[in-house]
Amino acid sequence: MNILISGGSGFIGSHLCKKFLAQGHRVICVDNFITGRKENVEDLITNDNFKLYEHDISEPFFIESDIDWVLHFASIASPKDYIAYPIKTLKSGLLGTHNCLGIAKAKKAKFFLASTSEIYGDPDIHPQPEEYWGRVNSIGIRSCYDESKRAAEALTYAYYRQHGLDVRVIRIFNTYGPNMQADDGRVVSNFIVQALRSQPITVYGQGDQTRSFCYIDDLIAGILKVMGAYYYLPINLGNPAEFTVLELAQLTLKLVGANSGIEYFPLPEDDPKQRKPDITKAKEILNWQPQVSLEQGLKNTIAYFKSKI
Ligand SMILES: NC(=O)c1ccc[n+]([C@@H]2O[C@H](COP(=O)([O-])OP(=O)(O)OC[C@H]3O[C@@H](n4cnc5c(N)ncnc54)[C@H](O)[C@@H]3O)[C@@H](O)[C@H]2O)c1
Repeated sequence: MNILISGGSGFIGSHLCKKFLAQGHRVICVDNFITGRKENVEDLITNDNFKLYEHDISEPFFIESDIDWVLHFASIASPKDYIAYPIKTLKSGLLGTHNCLGIAKAKKAKFFLASTSEIYGDPDIHPQPEEYWGRVNSIGIRSCYDESKRAAEALTYAYYRQHGLDVRVIRIFNTYGPNMQADDGRVVSNFIVQALRSQPITVYGQGDQTRSFCYIDDLIAGILKVMGAYYYLPINLGNPAEFTVLELAQLTLKLVGANSGIEYFPLPEDDPKQRKPDITKAKEILNWQPQVSLEQGLKNTIAYFKSKI
């Protein structure tokens, strides 16, 4: 198959590129490197089945070749970065999604959207099933991301209804692993890098807010299953094992072997207090559930960052 991936040099996208090439597909990666790194896909550049285009997907993108799948993963994804670039974030969710849907329609390809658990906002239902409509502050500092993804979902289903496009939508919950950026401010990479640098781990609030952490290999396995399933509605992909942020900090210190301690800072605006996927649908429809424990996933990710910093 010919698979176009926007955001293909980012953390998740680069794992997908590798996976598809290993399966013998041809991959067209479109990325403007705003948060991703060429280094993530550098070893693929000599592969004849891999093409890399430096391009902002918010601008129209034209391609001659046939395309079987358009996977739209391009988005600024970490709070630190999307708060710094709110307009670019909205543009990749709105214009980028529109452009990718247009390519899929023109090529009669299937369309796959990487949506997010953030569309549930600061939820008042726990865990969050796909039917939950969310509780999002539409004008808060995180709204550029949350609302761009909500609009991306709306656009996707508009194309499904109006043009009969074959669509898949996943709502990704906190995923971590090798190829994350050291300085993107996401909680797992942040904690590991701080511990490796013997710096105190920075916890916001008391650290009693909960998160669930999915290892990248589990997510990639889930994405492949979604592509192979005939199911067009959104599906949560994430690990339902719930940890407090403080537990994550303590486990990271232990696995790194650091004793740099923990520093507490005030909670940022609109920081969700709880986040945990209801993955009943993924289990029933895809026969998928995460296999990698937090401890094992952290060990792999620590090994990756040790080799990088
Ligand atoms: N990692 C997670 O926990 C998580 C959770 C929920 C949703 N997601 C979604 O998954 C996707 C991938 O996230 P990630 O964690 O790999 O982040 P990432 O920042 O590593 O990857 C995103 C990639 O998109 C590229 N990009 C951003 N805007 C672009 C644009 N306008 N044109 C072209 N390229 C652009 C970036 O340079 C980067 O390579 C995103 O859509 C994100 O919202 C990720």
